[in-house]
Amino acid sequence: MNEGGGLIGPVLAGYLYLIAAVLFIVGLKRLQSPKTARRGNQIGALGMLLAIVVTLIHYEILNPWVIVAGIVVGGGVGLWLAKTVEMTAMPQLVAAFNGFGGAASALVAAAEYIENSGSASFDLRAAITVALTVLVGGVTFSGSFVAYAKLQGLVPGRPFGYPGQKVGDSILVLVILGLLVWLIVGGSSLVLWLLLALSLVLGIVRVIPIGGADMPVVISFLNAFSGIAAMLAGFVIQENALIISGALVGASGMILTNIMVKAMNRTLAHVLFAAFGGDGGGGPAGEEQPVKSATAEDVAITLGYANSVIVVPGYGLAVAQAQHTLRELADLLEERGVDVRYAIHPVAGRMPGHMNVLLAEADVPYDKLFDLDEINGDFPHTDVALVVGANDVVNPSARDDPSSPIYGMPILDVDKAKTAIVIKRSLSPGFAGIDNPLFYKDNTLMFFSDAKRGLSSIAAAVKEL
Ligand code: TAP
Repeated sequence: MNEGGGLIGPVLAGYLYLIAAVLFIVGLKRLQSPKTARRGNQIGALGMLLAIVVTLIHYEILNPWVIVAGIVVGGGVGLWLAKTVEMTAMPQLVAAFNGFGGAASALVAAAEYIENSGSASFDLRAAITVALTVLVGGVTFSGSFVAYAKLQGLVPGRPFGYPGQKVGDSILVLVILGLLVWLIVGGSSLVLWLLLALSLVLGIVRVIPIGGADMPVVISFLNAFSGIAAMLAGFVIQENALIISGALVGASGMILTNIMVKAMNRTLAHVLFAAFGGDGGGGPAGEEQPVKSATAEDVAITLGYANSVIVVPGYGLAVAQAQHTLRELADLLEERGVDVRYAIHPVAGRMPGHMNVLLAEADVPYDKLFDLDEINGDFPHTDVALVVGANDVVNPSARDDPSSPIYGMPILDVDKAKTAIVIKRSLSPGFAGIDNPLFYKDNTLMFFSDAKRGLSSIAAAVKEL
């Protein structure tokens, strides 16, 4: 990397990078609460804009018009994605972003190697950072796109492997380690490309076997990896802003991974190295068992004459975009003196905080939202648990059936409420692909409907009470 200069000298550039880094940190801090998250995003984006502009001018990489054109095109694509991508497709989008981040880092490192590996300035430290960046970036890229394909339904979400996978993977890792060392102690471009190619293979074979309910953890882990790759790339080209921003993404991704692993009552090693989820087992045989099916009027009577209702929102609420209708129904019930609260499972929906964002959109007050630990003990004293488009997060097999693939994952104990009402379109399984014994319990009423249509017909029936 050249030393830079141009319109912005190295000292000024250093200060401007520092400001960008402070903006990243302040932005990240504000993401802690839904109230400040929007501003936090804007502050982080401002930091990134500053870092890009300083880099391009400082290193005289491009003339201003190319900078402007790049910002317009890149910003335009970002704006279009932000406006058009469904919230339910957010994990795929995050996976794709992670993948591109990993690819960019690996390519930066590869370019540095090709340009400078022959020069005197390319010392052992440079060789180590290049090799590690190529490895981590490559794994992140391919692993993220496998996760993308799984979430998008392009490849089956269930876990699958191949015979002798453990031995095959171990050999692959050993060969990669060999190439890594070879590249560090004086390899060639061929070694570099081989390392990149096998890193891509490693990302694919490590993510393909992971399925079902573990995918959120994988996405978060790959997010951390993309940050680590960016940080390493920052060391490669000695760019403080990249080192700091990469370290922030890496650290926050690891913290989130840790939180999610705990929320699922698993260990990271189990998620990464044991196939789990989606084999169709873990419960009775779906459609053949009798269920108690209810009408909108039945549900309205049960809700309208209850003292306490806990609403459990899930992925189906987001798909149906039924949050506003849910709020309207809750308002009607509250007018009748019913105590309405909301139970939020940490992995309900398809991304961390999904349900919080959804309910915030409908202006549901934050003090009515309760985390699993806070509210789970209240179900036995609650008249009605109203499950709207949630499935895995209320599956009692996770608590009661040691043979279930999701056994051990904490769930919301809706089956302990006096009555559980489940609104969904059919008896189809949720994300983990397993049946749910809740649907067949004596105290469960199934209301088969799209969440939005169903909630609005229940609201109409409550008005008639
Ligand atoms: P799921 O278990 O995925 O169940 C959602 C249910 O919503 C489905 O069974 C579906 O049943 C129903 N549904 C779909 N469209 C609907 C509509 N228009 N109206 C009414 N219902 C509809 O959801 P969950 O309980 O929220 O659990 C989340 C799952 O996703 C967990 O397994 C979790 O691990 C995984 N996951 C979470 C994340 C994060 S970080 N939150 C990320 C990726 C994956 P019908 O088809 O019968 O309607």
